[in-house]
This record gives sequence, structure tokens and C-alpha cells, in this order.
Amino acid sequence: MRVEVLPADSWAEAVADAFNDRLGTSGLRICLATGATPIPVYGRLPANALAMSTVFLLDEFGELAIGHPGRCETMLRTALLDRVPAAEFHFPDVDALDLEAECGRYRDLISDGGLDLAVLGLGTNGHLGLNEPGSTADQATRVVELTEETREGARKYGADPPPTWGVAVGLAEIFAAREVWLLVTGSAKADVLAQVVSGPLTDQIPATVLRTHPNAVIWADGNAASLL
Ligand code: PGA
Repeated sequence: MRVEVLPADSWAEAVADAFNDRLGTSGLRICLATGATPIPVYGRLPANALAMSTVFLLDEFGELAIGHPGRCETMLRTALLDRVPAAEFHFPDVDALDLEAECGRYRDLISDGGLDLAVLGLGTNGHLGLNEPGSTADQATRVVELTEETREGARKYGADPPPTWGVAVGLAEIFAAREVWLLVTGSAKADVLAQVVSGPLTDQIPATVLRTHPNAVIWADGNAASLL
């Protein structure tokens, strides 16, 4: 795992440049996180950046109406895809009657061809996507129950009352990605980032699994990296 620490005031621009370079002109199969962290990066990508790429949504909350601003699909469209359209965009249908079958469909869609790059955020509880503490590296895309901390976090996206469950692309699909980027900013993430980088390898902090990934990069700003 490589750790890139960048000054907070130029972090978004530097990561957006690196992302745009990585996307190149031939396009990638990428899984993208929502949440507050990647928004300034997404906002700096040129309009044609994803024209050749296939985008998979990393996770989705249940219990929110289609189009709700707190829904991850809505967030990714608003923050990125409405302005920077992708060649293809896929997401799990959390309103499907048979959720288990839907998770299987989404998992197969991702696994058949795999991911070139997964761009992730880090929860203050160490989660990756909605893979909450206790998630294991062999778990595939599935319905997950949300922790109180994640539910509280969902409030800042306008989900009130916050959902109790969601669909998470599993650590298995994330770990199988050829490259994983973890974006981490702000002093509120300093403690957990220090755990991810040098604490014990534990399912209780799912992001520690990235330490064993052959090609994982942490893009941290100086505030998040203050305890490294
Ligand atoms: P944030 O969320 O980017 O809004 O801090 C990250 C996460 O909880 O995965």
C-alpha cells in the first residue's frame, strides 16, 4: 500500500489530475464512491473524462425514495455524471422485490470483467463503502445492516430519518480490483487513518484489508495524515 500525502489546499486538484491521467483515453471499469470526500475531485474532472469508461456505484442506501438527494445514485449523478457522463453507469436496484437476486446480478456484472480501479472513501469507523466493521474479505455484494455511526453520517446527505440498511459492493469485489484508491481528507479521519496504515490488521477496521492489496494507494490530505 502506498500513501500519498498532499497539502489540504491542493489535494483535490492533484487527485483529480491523477484520476484524469489514470482514466486516459481508452476508459476503465471503475467503481466509484459517493459521500463528501470525492466531491471536490469529481468537480474538477473534465467533461469528457468518463466518456469511454463503465462506472459502477459502490453502494446504495435502502429506504430512500428514487431521486432522494441522499441516495448514492442521486449523489453520484449530481456530483459527477450529470456533467461528466460515463459510457455506461450501473447501480444496484435497492427497490427490487428479490434483493438477494439483485445483489447476485450486480455482483456478476462487476465480477465479469472485474474492476480496473475502485475509488473509495473511508468511514470514521473504518468502513469501506458500506462494508461495516466485522465485514470479511471474502464477502461479496450483499444487503448490509448499517451501524449507528454510518446512519448518523447519512444524515449529512439529507437522509433523515437515516436508512437502516443498504447494498454494499463486497470487500471481495473491491479486493479483486486491479487498483484501489482510498481518498481521505480532514482531521476527523486522522485517528482511523493511522489505524488503517499502521494498526493491527482487523475485520473491525475493514479498510486495513487494503494493506494486503497488491496495488492500493491512499490519497490523504495533510489534515487526515497528521497522525501518520
Ligand atoms: P465521507 O464518507 O466521504 O462523507 O466522509 C466516507 C464514508 O463514510 O465512507
